[in-house]
Amino acid sequence: MSELSNKTVSTLIDKALDMLQYSYTPYSGFKVGAALLAKNGTIYGGCNIENAAYTPCSCAERTAFFKAVSEGVKEFDAIAVVGGPDGKVTEYTAPCGVCRQVMMEWCDPASFQVFIAIDRDHYKEYLLEEILPDGFGPGNLKMKKTGG
Ligand code: THU
Repeated sequence: MSELSNKTVSTLIDKALDMLQYSYTPYSGFKVGAALLAKNGTIYGGCNIENAAYTPCSCAERTAFFKAVSEGVKEFDAIAVVGGPDGKVTEYTAPCGVCRQVMMEWCDPASFQVFIAIDRDHYKEYLLEEILPDGFGPGNLKMKKTGG
């Protein structure tokens, strides 16, 4: 059960759908939009941005995270993701593995919510820990006391 209100979930999904118009996909034609809700209430939109050299492509989710972090915002509650060929959203588009890892950097896996959506009436909801079990994160790099 979502802790977010239905209205907030709908707002996130609508924002993710709205971001599809900015998606830059001359190579795949597969457009993805994301809307990232920060704990301060701000919603950061993101779209995928491709590149002729392929490797520098950014997914919509990472675009949203890096927009927020680049403005000093590093605490988040949820993200909505939509996508489809030519921006036609008829199936669910799940975050890629790299984006799940990026979520792991700043989000609590036991509470951060991921909404994989088609529209405001059709979405699947996961916790980050469900789509990235036993994730490796900043906590793994904390120095452990050795007693010495
Ligand atoms: N893509 C995303 O933006 N997010 C995902 O989670 C899956 C994949 C983009 C990357 C590329 O521009 C296009 O979808 C096809 O892989």
